[in-house]
Amino acid sequence: MKTLLINGSPHKNGNTFVALTEVANALKTNGIETEFVHIGMKPVQGCTACQKCFELGRCIFKDELYTTLIEKLQDADAVVIGSPVYYAGVNGSLCAILDRLFYSASDLLEYKPAAAVTVARRGGTTAAFDRLNKYFTISNMPVVSSQYWNIIHGAKAGEAAQDAEGLQTMRTLGKNMAWLLKSIKNGQQPLPEQEAWIATNFIRK
Ligand SMILES: Cc1cc2nc3c(=O)[nH]c(=O)nc-3n(C[C@H](O)[C@H](O)[C@H](O)COP(=O)(O)O)c2cc1C
Repeated sequence: MKTLLINGSPHKNGNTFVALTEVANALKTNGIETEFVHIGMKPVQGCTACQKCFELGRCIFKDELYTTLIEKLQDADAVVIGSPVYYAGVNGSLCAILDRLFYSASDLLEYKPAAAVTVARRGGTTAAFDRLNKYFTISNMPVVSSQYWNIIHGAKAGEAAQDAEGLQTMRTLGKNMAWLLKSIKNGQQPLPEQEAWIATNFIRK
């Protein structure tokens, strides 16, 4: 079983990476493979609301980040998404790719356990955490939690390694995710039947 970890920071080795690495190490210790994708420093294409994905089954833009994530999700059993906090929210570049991914590839996401991790110097972690969880909870993904909200603090790259409670929260998250993955594998039930979508804009078609 494998967990895909998405580092939503432009810093490959920044604080978000410190947090995700702690989760990954706990997963590995508990028998789960891990793989990282970094969103990196390049500009990220956002969703243009063209709705072409409804026809194509995938996003019309085939940039490297999107195609890499699609490929890695094929054999991932779970997903952890980490973001640095920017103005009390998720990094805009990360939202840009996640909007496209979740809109066009729900088949690769649904029923896979998921967790969000947010990283800040000081404030805005829970608002960003809430935003990331919104992707999972509209996509039939079981959300994995920890002993505290999945947040960690640090300003300069690497400082998060000094946040002992934050690191412990990450380790617990990794252990909880490994436990859930193994529990699902050992007691897998048929997936729930899905009803046809009743789409109302508040109350009317
Ligand atoms: C554009 C920008 C906005 C930021 N906004 C916040 C903020 O709202 N609250 C906060 O505590 N830190 C804020 N920070 C600091 C980062 O969240 C913090 O340095 C974090 O550790 C960076 O993670 P990274 O090393 O993985 O990139 C901001 C940083 C940048 C570049």
